[in-house]
Amino acid sequence: MQASPITVPSGLIDMLRTARSVTVLTGAGISAESGIPTFRDSQTGLWAQYDPHQLATPEAFAHNPKLVMDWYRWRRELVERAAPNPGHYALAQIEQRVDRFTLITQNVDGLHTQAGSRRVVELHGNIHRLRCSSARCAYTVDHWPDEETPHCPQCGALLRPDVVWFGEMIPPGALQAALNASRNCQVFLSIGTSGVVEPAASLPYEALRAGASVIEINPQPTPLSIFAKYYFSQPAGQVLPEITRAVWDEV
Ligand code: OAD
Repeated sequence: MQASPITVPSGLIDMLRTARSVTVLTGAGISAESGIPTFRDSQTGLWAQYDPHQLATPEAFAHNPKLVMDWYRWRRELVERAAPNPGHYALAQIEQRVDRFTLITQNVDGLHTQAGSRRVVELHGNIHRLRCSSARCAYTVDHWPDEETPHCPQCGALLRPDVVWFGEMIPPGALQAALNASRNCQVFLSIGTSGVVEPAASLPYEALRAGASVIEINPQPTPLSIFAKYYFSQPAGQVLPEITRAVWDEV
């Protein structure tokens, strides 16, 4: 299917050329073109096929740690086979061009860092990392041991994916960094997120309240769309390179 041509409005070009501070929020949509399923897309979304409450909650893990670990191992193998797409790379380029740039992501796939982004706030953690399931133990490890349900070498408790589950708090440091970046930017880009999960969903509104202009990239309109100064309905992997080309003559 031939995507509709992408026109980058001159007002957006001027706005990004002069912006001193830009904050970006990404969701699963920016990794869709890397072959990683989103959550709520009706046919292909993970939550359309699986019940998140069976797999992505502390209760599910306590009840059946092997099922939860197997599911995350499967998702991690999907991520391992994926590569950053032009949308990820374009954001890494924009970071080089803006004085104060923060990329807040809800994704746990690590593809932004892999594409070269440095100022990344991983709001929901990272699927490549495991951490001790005991609240009293701070052990983490950057690779998955072979055992089906590995245990913490420090305290013996089960290890779990270092991601945020439903009903869990966002790591305080990440949340504060995300709020600061949202409240102190001139331009806020919301890319590939349905905007239904808090507190991420509130970040664009924090930016609007602080006087920022919002740019949204999503083939499906979201509750944020009516507040966006610019809205693109084409895929992020096509729009973002066009924006970097138009604003900074970069591919
Ligand atoms: P969703 O699956 O809810 O939304 C993905 C969005 O990406 C949808 O609005 C799609 O229209 C859009 N999309 C799909 N392909 C795209 C493309 N090529 N370019 C741009 N947009 C595209 O995923 P999230 O909004 O990220 O949380 O979900 C937020 C959180 O809910 C996730 O981080 C996860 C989930 O439960 C936890 O696991 C804690």
